[in-house]
Amino acid sequence: MAKLAVIGCGYVGAVTAACFTDLGHTVECIDIDATRVAMLQRGIAPIHEPGLEPLLRAGIATGRLAIRSTYPERMDAEIVFIAVNTPASQEGAADLRAVRDAVTSVANRLATGSIIVNKSTVPIGTGDLVAGMARRTGMADIAVVSNPEFLREGSAVHDFMHPDRVVLGSTDPAAADRVAALYEPLGAFIQRVDIRTAEMIKYASNAFLATKISFINEIASICESLGADVTEVARGMGMDVRIGAQFLQAGLGWGGSCFPKDVRALAHMAAVHGTHPQLLRSVMEINSDQRLRTVQKIRAALDNDLERRRILVLGAAFKNDTDDIRNSPSIELAKLLQLEGADVAIYDPVVPAERIHREAPTLRVAETVAHGAFGAHALVLATPWPEFKTLRWDELGTLMARRTVIDSRNYLDAAAVVEAGFSYTCIGRPSLETPATVLESEFAMRRAE
Ligand code: UGA
Repeated sequence: MAKLAVIGCGYVGAVTAACFTDLGHTVECIDIDATRVAMLQRGIAPIHEPGLEPLLRAGIATGRLAIRSTYPERMDAEIVFIAVNTPASQEGAADLRAVRDAVTSVANRLATGSIIVNKSTVPIGTGDLVAGMARRTGMADIAVVSNPEFLREGSAVHDFMHPDRVVLGSTDPAAADRVAALYEPLGAFIQRVDIRTAEMIKYASNAFLATKISFINEIASICESLGADVTEVARGMGMDVRIGAQFLQAGLGWGGSCFPKDVRALAHMAAVHGTHPQLLRSVMEINSDQRLRTVQKIRAALDNDLERRRILVLGAAFKNDTDDIRNSPSIELAKLLQLEGADVAIYDPVVPAERIHREAPTLRVAETVAHGAFGAHALVLATPWPEFKTLRWDELGTLMARRTVIDSRNYLDAAAVVEAGFSYTCIGRPSLETPATVLESEFAMRRAE
Protein backbone atom coordinates (compact mmCIF):
# COMPACT_ATOMS: atom_id res chain seq x y z
CA MET A 1 0.00 0.00 0.00
CA ALA A 2 1.25 3.48 -0.88
CA LYS A 3 1.74 6.69 1.06
CA LEU A 4 -0.22 9.40 -0.72
CA ALA A 5 -0.91 13.10 -0.27
CA VAL A 6 -3.73 15.17 -1.70
CA ILE A 7 -3.41 18.95 -1.97
CA GLY A 8 -6.79 20.70 -1.95
CA CYS A 9 -9.80 19.24 -0.16
CA GLY A 10 -12.64 20.43 -2.38
CA TYR A 11 -14.96 17.87 -3.86
CA VAL A 12 -12.30 16.27 -6.07
CA GLY A 13 -9.60 16.29 -3.36
CA ALA A 14 -11.83 15.13 -0.51
CA VAL A 15 -13.33 12.33 -2.59
CA THR A 16 -9.92 11.23 -3.93
CA ALA A 17 -8.46 11.16 -0.42
CA ALA A 18 -11.43 9.32 1.12
CA CYS A 19 -11.59 6.74 -1.67
CA PHE A 20 -7.84 5.99 -1.77
CA THR A 21 -7.94 5.57 2.02
CA ASP A 22 -10.84 3.16 1.58
CA LEU A 23 -8.72 1.21 -0.91
CA GLY A 24 -6.11 0.72 1.84
CA HIS A 25 -3.59 3.51 1.23
CA THR A 26 -2.38 6.06 3.77
CA VAL A 27 -3.38 9.58 2.75
CA GLU A 28 -2.38 13.00 4.03
CA CYS A 29 -4.70 15.74 2.88
CA ILE A 30 -3.59 19.39 2.96
CA ASP A 31 -5.82 22.41 2.40
CA ILE A 32 -5.02 26.03 3.23
CA ASP A 33 -8.63 26.66 4.31
CA ALA A 34 -8.47 26.07 8.09
CA THR A 35 -12.28 26.03 8.50
CA ARG A 36 -12.64 23.32 5.88
CA VAL A 37 -9.81 21.33 7.47
CA ALA A 38 -11.42 21.58 10.93
CA MET A 39 -14.68 20.19 9.49
CA LEU A 40 -12.94 17.38 7.65
CA GLN A 41 -10.97 16.40 10.74
CA ARG A 42 -14.32 15.78 12.45
CA GLY A 43 -15.46 13.70 9.49
CA ILE A 44 -17.78 16.39 8.17
CA ALA A 45 -17.69 16.84 4.40
CA PRO A 46 -17.46 20.49 3.28
CA ILE A 47 -19.92 19.67 0.51
CA HIS A 48 -23.12 17.68 0.30
CA GLU A 49 -21.86 14.52 -1.37
CA PRO A 50 -23.68 11.22 -0.82
CA GLY A 51 -21.45 8.52 0.71
CA LEU A 52 -18.49 10.79 1.42
CA GLU A 53 -18.79 11.29 5.19
CA PRO A 54 -18.85 7.56 6.09
CA LEU A 55 -15.63 7.09 4.10
CA LEU A 56 -13.98 10.11 5.72
CA ARG A 57 -14.93 8.91 9.21
CA ALA A 58 -13.77 5.37 8.54
CA GLY A 59 -10.44 6.69 7.17
CA ILE A 60 -9.88 8.93 10.19
CA ALA A 61 -10.82 6.09 12.58
CA THR A 62 -8.25 3.74 11.03
CA GLY A 63 -5.59 6.45 11.30
CA ARG A 64 -4.86 6.18 7.58
CA LEU A 65 -6.45 9.51 6.69
CA ALA A 66 -4.98 12.71 8.14
CA ILE A 67 -6.11 16.22 7.23
CA ARG A 68 -4.05 19.33 7.95
CA SER A 69 -3.91 22.99 7.01
CA THR A 70 -0.13 23.44 6.87
CA TYR A 71 2.64 21.62 5.07
CA PRO A 72 4.97 19.51 7.18
CA GLU A 73 8.70 20.24 6.87
CA ARG A 74 9.24 17.08 4.83
CA MET A 75 6.61 15.06 3.01
CA ASP A 76 7.04 11.31 2.91
CA ALA A 77 4.31 10.78 0.30
CA GLU A 78 5.35 8.74 -2.72
CA ILE A 79 2.58 10.20 -4.87
CA VAL A 80 1.01 13.65 -4.41
CA PHE A 81 -2.31 14.53 -6.09
CA ILE A 82 -2.89 18.19 -6.84
CA ALA A 83 -6.64 18.87 -6.69
CA VAL A 84 -6.87 22.62 -6.18
CA ASN A 85 -9.35 24.83 -7.95
CA THR A 86 -8.58 26.71 -11.14
CA PRO A 87 -11.14 29.51 -11.44
CA ALA A 88 -11.62 31.15 -14.83
CA SER A 89 -11.74 34.80 -15.80
CA GLN A 90 -14.74 36.15 -17.73
CA GLU A 91 -12.87 35.46 -20.99
CA GLY A 92 -12.10 31.90 -19.94
CA ALA A 93 -8.42 32.14 -19.02
CA ALA A 94 -7.70 29.80 -16.10
CA ASP A 95 -6.19 31.20 -12.92
CA LEU A 96 -3.34 28.82 -12.06
CA ARG A 97 -2.17 30.51 -8.87
CA ALA A 98 -3.40 27.70 -6.62
CA VAL A 99 -1.71 25.06 -8.81
CA ARG A 100 1.57 27.01 -8.80
CA ASP A 101 1.42 27.46 -5.01
CA ALA A 102 0.73 23.77 -4.48
CA VAL A 103 3.57 22.65 -6.76
CA THR A 104 6.07 25.04 -5.20
CA SER A 105 5.00 23.94 -1.73
CA VAL A 106 5.36 20.22 -2.36
CA ALA A 107 8.35 20.19 -4.74
CA ASN A 108 10.96 21.08 -2.13
CA ARG A 109 9.45 18.82 0.52
CA LEU A 110 9.38 15.61 -1.49
CA ALA A 111 12.04 12.94 -1.81
CA THR A 112 13.61 11.80 -5.07
CA GLY A 113 11.44 9.33 -6.94
CA SER A 114 8.14 10.84 -5.81
CA ILE A 115 5.43 11.78 -8.30
CA ILE A 116 3.24 14.85 -8.64
CA VAL A 117 -0.12 13.91 -10.19
CA ASN A 118 -2.24 16.73 -11.48
CA LYS A 119 -5.98 16.21 -11.07
CA SER A 120 -7.06 19.86 -11.33
CA THR A 121 -8.55 20.82 -14.69
CA VAL A 122 -5.79 22.88 -16.20
CA PRO A 123 -5.14 24.46 -19.61
CA ILE A 124 -3.32 22.27 -22.07
CA GLY A 125 0.39 22.64 -21.46
CA THR A 126 0.12 23.08 -17.68
CA GLY A 127 1.65 19.64 -17.07
CA ASP A 128 4.83 20.83 -18.77
CA LEU A 129 4.75 23.97 -16.65
CA VAL A 130 4.35 21.87 -13.48
CA ALA A 131 7.25 19.63 -14.52
CA GLY A 132 9.41 22.71 -15.12
CA MET A 133 8.44 24.21 -11.75
CA ALA A 134 9.13 20.94 -9.94
CA ARG A 135 12.54 20.78 -11.59
CA ARG A 136 13.39 24.35 -10.68
CA THR A 137 11.96 24.38 -7.14
CA GLY A 138 12.77 20.94 -5.84
CA MET A 139 16.14 19.50 -5.07
CA ALA A 140 14.82 16.01 -5.76
CA ASP A 141 14.00 14.29 -9.02
CA ILE A 142 10.20 14.34 -9.25
CA ALA A 143 8.06 12.90 -12.06
CA VAL A 144 4.81 14.52 -13.26
CA VAL A 145 1.66 12.67 -14.34
CA SER A 146 -1.60 14.17 -15.54
CA ASN A 147 -4.65 12.27 -14.29
CA PRO A 148 -7.80 14.23 -15.20
CA GLU A 149 -10.87 13.68 -13.08
CA PHE A 150 -14.30 12.72 -14.44
CA LEU A 151 -16.28 12.69 -11.17
CA ARG A 152 -19.74 14.20 -11.15
CA GLU A 153 -20.84 16.15 -8.10
CA GLY A 154 -23.61 14.26 -6.35
CA SER A 155 -22.27 10.86 -7.38
CA ALA A 156 -18.55 11.49 -6.94
CA VAL A 157 -17.82 8.55 -4.60
CA HIS A 158 -19.63 6.13 -6.90
CA ASP A 159 -17.89 7.61 -9.97
CA PHE A 160 -14.46 7.30 -8.32
CA MET A 161 -15.03 3.66 -7.44
CA HIS A 162 -16.55 2.80 -10.85
CA PRO A 163 -14.66 4.83 -13.46
CA ASP A 164 -15.44 4.36 -17.17
CA ARG A 165 -11.72 4.84 -17.79
CA VAL A 166 -8.64 6.23 -16.09
CA VAL A 167 -6.54 8.61 -18.17
CA LEU A 168 -2.84 8.98 -17.37
CA GLY A 169 -0.62 11.42 -19.24
CA SER A 170 3.12 11.24 -18.75
CA THR A 171 6.46 11.11 -20.47
CA ASP A 172 7.74 8.83 -17.70
CA PRO A 173 6.33 5.29 -18.17
CA ALA A 174 7.60 4.08 -14.78
CA ALA A 175 5.82 6.92 -12.97
CA ALA A 176 2.63 6.25 -14.94
CA ASP A 177 2.89 2.56 -13.96
CA ARG A 178 3.01 3.44 -10.28
CA VAL A 179 -0.06 5.69 -10.56
CA ALA A 180 -1.85 3.03 -12.65
CA ALA A 181 -1.24 0.50 -9.87
CA LEU A 182 -3.34 2.64 -7.49
CA TYR A 183 -6.34 2.30 -9.81
CA GLU A 184 -5.91 -1.39 -10.64
CA PRO A 185 -8.40 -2.64 -7.98
CA LEU A 186 -11.11 -0.59 -9.73
CA GLY A 187 -10.77 -2.70 -12.86
CA ALA A 188 -11.15 0.20 -15.30
CA PHE A 189 -9.36 0.55 -18.63
CA ILE A 190 -6.27 2.71 -18.18
CA GLN A 191 -5.45 4.90 -21.15
CA ARG A 192 -1.81 6.00 -21.37
CA VAL A 193 -1.13 9.16 -23.36
CA ASP A 194 1.16 12.18 -23.32
CA ILE A 195 0.44 14.97 -20.84
CA ARG A 196 -1.14 17.42 -23.30
CA THR A 197 -3.46 14.75 -24.68
CA ALA A 198 -4.58 13.81 -21.17
CA GLU A 199 -5.33 17.45 -20.41
CA MET A 200 -7.26 17.76 -23.67
CA ILE A 201 -9.32 14.60 -22.99
CA LYS A 202 -10.73 16.31 -19.90
CA TYR A 203 -11.77 19.50 -21.72
CA ALA A 204 -13.07 17.64 -24.76
CA SER A 205 -15.17 15.31 -22.57
CA ASN A 206 -16.83 18.14 -20.66
CA ALA A 207 -17.30 20.19 -23.84
CA PHE A 208 -18.89 17.22 -25.61
CA LEU A 209 -21.32 16.56 -22.75
CA ALA A 210 -22.27 20.24 -22.70
CA THR A 211 -22.71 20.07 -26.49
CA LYS A 212 -25.04 17.08 -26.13
CA ILE A 213 -27.22 19.04 -23.71
CA SER A 214 -27.25 22.18 -25.87
CA PHE A 215 -28.05 20.00 -28.87
CA ILE A 216 -31.11 18.48 -27.21
CA ASN A 217 -32.18 21.90 -25.97
CA GLU A 218 -32.08 23.19 -29.54
CA ILE A 219 -34.05 20.13 -30.67
CA ALA A 220 -36.52 20.88 -27.84
CA SER A 221 -37.15 24.35 -29.26
CA ILE A 222 -37.70 22.89 -32.72
CA CYS A 223 -40.02 20.24 -31.23
CA GLU A 224 -42.08 23.00 -29.66
CA SER A 225 -42.48 24.79 -32.98
CA LEU A 226 -43.39 21.61 -34.84
CA GLY A 227 -45.51 19.82 -32.23
CA ALA A 228 -43.15 16.93 -31.37
CA ASP A 229 -42.24 15.65 -27.90
CA VAL A 230 -38.52 16.07 -27.08
CA THR A 231 -38.55 13.52 -24.25
CA GLU A 232 -39.63 10.77 -26.69
CA VAL A 233 -37.24 12.10 -29.34
CA ALA A 234 -34.36 11.82 -26.83
CA ARG A 235 -35.50 8.33 -25.81
CA GLY A 236 -35.61 7.21 -29.40
CA MET A 237 -32.21 8.74 -30.16
CA GLY A 238 -30.63 7.45 -26.95
CA MET A 239 -31.37 3.82 -27.78
CA ASP A 240 -28.93 4.10 -30.67
CA VAL A 241 -25.69 2.97 -28.99
CA ARG A 242 -23.73 5.37 -31.18
CA ILE A 243 -25.61 8.25 -29.53
CA GLY A 244 -26.26 6.97 -25.99
CA ALA A 245 -29.11 7.96 -23.70
CA GLN A 246 -27.26 10.09 -21.17
CA PHE A 247 -27.07 13.89 -21.17
CA LEU A 248 -30.04 14.20 -23.50
CA GLN A 249 -32.42 15.74 -20.97
CA ALA A 250 -33.73 19.01 -22.28
CA GLY A 251 -34.28 21.66 -19.65
CA LEU A 252 -32.94 24.85 -18.24
CA GLY A 253 -29.46 24.17 -19.60
CA TRP A 254 -26.21 23.22 -17.95
CA GLY A 255 -24.51 24.93 -15.03
CA GLY A 256 -22.21 24.12 -12.13
CA SER A 257 -18.56 24.70 -11.45
CA CYS A 258 -17.25 22.67 -14.41
CA PHE A 259 -19.11 22.89 -17.72
CA PRO A 260 -19.40 26.70 -17.88
CA LYS A 261 -15.74 27.15 -16.88
CA ASP A 262 -14.36 24.40 -19.06
CA VAL A 263 -16.28 25.14 -22.26
CA ARG A 264 -15.31 28.81 -21.94
CA ALA A 265 -11.69 27.89 -21.22
CA LEU A 266 -11.47 25.55 -24.22
CA ALA A 267 -12.97 28.19 -26.52
CA HIS A 268 -10.54 30.73 -25.09
CA MET A 269 -7.54 28.44 -25.60
CA ALA A 270 -8.67 27.72 -29.16
CA ALA A 271 -9.08 31.42 -29.96
CA VAL A 272 -5.74 32.51 -28.51
CA HIS A 273 -4.06 29.80 -30.55
CA GLY A 274 -5.68 30.91 -33.78
CA THR A 275 -8.59 28.47 -34.09
CA HIS A 276 -12.17 29.70 -34.45
CA PRO A 277 -14.19 27.70 -31.87
CA GLN A 278 -17.49 28.14 -33.68
CA LEU A 279 -19.28 25.08 -32.27
CA LEU A 280 -18.23 25.77 -28.67
CA ARG A 281 -19.49 29.34 -28.93
CA SER A 282 -22.86 28.14 -30.22
CA VAL A 283 -23.03 25.60 -27.40
CA MET A 284 -22.58 28.42 -24.86
CA GLU A 285 -25.05 30.69 -26.66
CA ILE A 286 -27.76 28.03 -26.80
CA ASN A 287 -27.22 27.45 -23.08
CA SER A 288 -27.73 31.06 -22.06
CA ASP A 289 -30.67 31.40 -24.48
CA GLN A 290 -32.27 28.42 -22.76
CA ARG A 291 -32.66 30.46 -19.55
CA LEU A 292 -34.22 33.31 -21.57
CA ARG A 293 -36.62 30.94 -23.34
CA THR A 294 -37.72 29.67 -19.94
CA VAL A 295 -38.39 33.23 -18.75
CA GLN A 296 -40.46 33.74 -21.87
CA LYS A 297 -42.48 30.60 -21.09
CA ILE A 298 -43.12 31.75 -17.53
CA ARG A 299 -44.15 35.18 -18.79
CA ALA A 300 -46.51 33.62 -21.34
CA ALA A 301 -48.04 31.37 -18.67
CA LEU A 302 -48.75 34.47 -16.55
CA ASP A 303 -50.59 36.54 -19.18
CA ASN A 304 -47.37 38.06 -20.57
CA ASP A 305 -46.66 40.16 -17.53
CA LEU A 306 -44.28 39.31 -14.70
CA GLU A 307 -44.52 42.62 -12.87
CA ARG A 308 -45.26 41.92 -9.18
CA ARG A 309 -46.10 38.28 -9.92
CA ARG A 310 -45.12 36.05 -7.02
CA ILE A 311 -43.08 33.14 -8.24
CA LEU A 312 -41.61 30.26 -6.26
CA VAL A 313 -38.54 28.66 -7.86
CA LEU A 314 -38.15 25.06 -6.71
CA GLY A 315 -34.48 24.20 -6.26
CA ALA A 316 -31.37 26.39 -6.01
CA ALA A 317 -28.58 23.82 -6.50
CA PHE A 318 -27.18 23.52 -10.02
CA LYS A 319 -28.47 19.94 -10.03
CA ASN A 320 -29.91 17.54 -7.47
CA ASP A 321 -27.82 15.67 -4.89
CA THR A 322 -25.45 18.60 -4.40
CA ASP A 323 -25.53 21.81 -2.39
CA ASP A 324 -23.39 23.60 -4.98
CA ILE A 325 -24.95 26.77 -6.40
CA ARG A 326 -22.02 27.90 -8.53
CA ASN A 327 -23.39 28.93 -11.95
CA SER A 328 -26.70 27.45 -10.94
CA PRO A 329 -29.27 27.71 -13.75
CA SER A 330 -31.99 27.99 -11.06
CA ILE A 331 -30.46 31.08 -9.50
CA GLU A 332 -29.73 32.62 -12.90
CA LEU A 333 -33.39 32.06 -13.81
CA ALA A 334 -34.59 33.57 -10.53
CA LYS A 335 -32.47 36.68 -11.14
CA LEU A 336 -33.81 37.05 -14.69
CA LEU A 337 -37.37 36.85 -13.35
CA GLN A 338 -36.56 39.57 -10.82
CA LEU A 339 -35.32 41.79 -13.63
CA GLU A 340 -38.81 41.59 -15.13
CA GLY A 341 -40.33 42.81 -11.87
CA ALA A 342 -41.39 39.45 -10.43
CA ASP A 343 -41.37 38.89 -6.68
CA VAL A 344 -39.30 35.72 -6.51
CA ALA A 345 -38.76 33.23 -3.71
CA ILE A 346 -36.58 30.15 -3.94
CA TYR A 347 -36.69 26.91 -2.00
CA ASP A 348 -34.05 24.22 -1.83
CA PRO A 349 -34.11 21.17 0.43
CA VAL A 350 -30.33 21.13 0.95
CA VAL A 351 -28.65 24.47 0.13
CA PRO A 352 -28.37 26.64 3.27
CA ALA A 353 -30.33 29.91 3.08
CA GLU A 354 -27.29 32.06 3.93
CA ARG A 355 -25.43 30.70 0.92
CA ILE A 356 -28.29 31.65 -1.38
CA HIS A 357 -28.40 35.09 0.25
CA ARG A 358 -24.70 35.59 -0.39
CA GLU A 359 -25.15 34.72 -4.05
CA ALA A 360 -28.46 36.53 -4.58
CA PRO A 361 -29.16 38.96 -1.71
CA THR A 362 -32.53 40.14 -3.02
CA LEU A 363 -34.04 36.68 -3.45
CA ARG A 364 -36.48 35.56 -0.78
CA VAL A 365 -35.60 32.12 0.55
CA ALA A 366 -38.61 30.02 1.49
CA GLU A 367 -38.29 27.68 4.47
CA THR A 368 -40.68 25.14 2.99
CA VAL A 369 -42.44 24.67 -0.33
CA ALA A 370 -45.77 25.52 1.33
CA HIS A 371 -44.29 28.71 2.79
CA GLY A 372 -43.03 29.82 -0.63
CA ALA A 373 -46.20 28.74 -2.41
CA PHE A 374 -48.46 30.89 -0.23
CA GLY A 375 -49.95 33.57 -2.46
CA ALA A 376 -47.73 32.56 -5.42
CA HIS A 377 -48.92 32.91 -9.00
CA ALA A 378 -46.58 30.22 -10.30
CA LEU A 379 -44.25 27.44 -9.22
CA VAL A 380 -41.19 26.87 -11.40
CA LEU A 381 -39.39 23.53 -11.10
CA ALA A 382 -35.72 24.37 -11.67
CA THR A 383 -33.68 21.65 -9.88
CA PRO A 384 -34.97 18.08 -10.10
CA TRP A 385 -34.86 17.12 -6.40
CA PRO A 386 -36.80 13.86 -5.89
CA GLU A 387 -38.93 15.38 -3.13
CA PHE A 388 -40.55 17.69 -5.70
CA LYS A 389 -41.95 14.68 -7.50
CA THR A 390 -44.17 13.78 -4.57
CA LEU A 391 -45.51 17.24 -3.77
CA ARG A 392 -49.21 17.34 -2.82
CA TRP A 393 -50.39 19.50 -5.68
CA ASP A 394 -53.97 19.72 -4.49
CA GLU A 395 -52.84 21.09 -1.13
CA LEU A 396 -50.35 23.52 -2.70
CA GLY A 397 -53.05 24.74 -5.07
CA THR A 398 -55.23 25.87 -2.17
CA LEU A 399 -52.38 28.10 -0.92
CA MET A 400 -51.59 29.73 -4.24
CA ALA A 401 -53.05 32.77 -5.94
CA ARG A 402 -53.05 30.94 -9.22
CA ARG A 403 -52.40 27.35 -10.19
CA THR A 404 -49.54 27.56 -12.64
CA VAL A 405 -46.58 25.19 -12.90
CA ILE A 406 -43.63 25.62 -15.23
CA ASP A 407 -41.52 22.47 -15.26
CA SER A 408 -38.22 23.62 -16.73
CA ARG A 409 -36.67 20.14 -16.42
CA ASN A 410 -39.58 17.99 -17.70
CA TYR A 411 -39.35 16.30 -14.33
CA LEU A 412 -42.77 16.36 -12.68
CA ASP A 413 -45.68 14.00 -13.10
CA ALA A 414 -47.62 16.20 -15.53
CA ALA A 415 -50.87 14.24 -15.11
CA ALA A 416 -50.83 14.67 -11.30
CA VAL A 417 -50.16 18.40 -11.64
CA VAL A 418 -52.96 18.90 -14.16
CA GLU A 419 -55.38 16.74 -12.18
CA ALA A 420 -54.94 19.18 -9.26
CA GLY A 421 -56.17 21.98 -11.50
CA PHE A 422 -52.86 23.51 -12.55
CA SER A 423 -51.77 24.64 -15.97
CA TYR A 424 -48.56 22.80 -16.79
CA THR A 425 -45.86 24.18 -19.08
CA CYS A 426 -42.74 22.18 -19.91
CA ILE A 427 -39.81 22.15 -22.33
CA GLY A 428 -40.00 20.80 -25.87
CA ARG A 429 -43.36 19.07 -25.57
CA PRO A 430 -46.95 20.19 -25.46
CA SER A 431 -48.07 22.12 -22.39
CA LEU A 432 -51.24 21.03 -20.62
CA GLU A 433 -54.10 23.20 -19.50
CA THR A 434 -57.08 22.54 -17.27
CA PRO A 435 -60.30 24.52 -17.28
CA ALA A 436 -59.66 25.60 -13.70
CA THR A 437 -56.41 27.41 -14.41
CA VAL A 438 -56.98 30.85 -13.06
CA LEU A 439 -58.02 30.78 -9.47
CA GLU A 440 -57.07 34.28 -8.46
CA SER A 441 -60.62 35.24 -7.55
CA GLU A 442 -61.09 32.05 -5.53
CA PHE A 443 -57.92 32.85 -3.60
CA ALA A 444 -58.98 36.45 -3.05
CA MET A 445 -62.33 35.25 -1.69
CA ARG A 446 -60.63 32.85 0.71
CA ARG A 447 -58.29 35.53 1.99
CA ALA A 448 -61.22 37.88 2.53
CA GLU A 449 -63.00 35.28 4.65
C1 UGA B 1 -19.28 17.37 -14.89
C2 UGA B 1 -18.94 16.08 -15.66
O1 UGA B 1 -20.14 15.32 -15.87
C3 UGA B 1 -17.93 15.24 -14.89
O2 UGA B 1 -17.55 14.10 -15.68
C4 UGA B 1 -16.68 16.09 -14.62
O3 UGA B 1 -15.72 15.38 -13.86
C5 UGA B 1 -17.08 17.34 -13.84
O4 UGA B 1 -18.06 18.07 -14.61
C6 UGA B 1 -15.86 18.17 -13.61
O5 UGA B 1 -15.26 18.64 -14.58
O6 UGA B 1 -15.40 18.27 -12.46
P1 UGA B 1 -20.87 17.98 -12.82
O7 UGA B 1 -20.52 19.40 -13.10
O8 UGA B 1 -20.78 17.48 -11.42
O9 UGA B 1 -19.92 16.98 -13.68
O10 UGA B 1 -22.37 17.77 -13.27
P2 UGA B 1 -23.16 17.01 -14.44
O11 UGA B 1 -23.89 15.89 -13.86
O12 UGA B 1 -22.27 16.74 -15.58
O13 UGA B 1 -24.23 18.14 -14.85
C7 UGA B 1 -23.81 19.41 -15.37
C8 UGA B 1 -25.01 20.25 -15.72
O14 UGA B 1 -25.69 19.72 -16.86
C9 UGA B 1 -26.07 20.35 -14.62
O15 UGA B 1 -26.51 21.69 -14.53
C10 UGA B 1 -27.17 19.44 -15.10
O16 UGA B 1 -28.44 19.79 -14.61
C11 UGA B 1 -27.08 19.63 -16.60
N1 UGA B 1 -27.63 18.50 -17.39
C12 UGA B 1 -27.07 17.27 -17.31
C13 UGA B 1 -28.70 18.73 -18.25
O17 UGA B 1 -29.23 19.86 -18.36
N2 UGA B 1 -29.19 17.68 -19.02
C14 UGA B 1 -28.64 16.45 -18.95
O18 UGA B 1 -29.12 15.54 -19.69
C15 UGA B 1 -27.57 16.24 -18.07
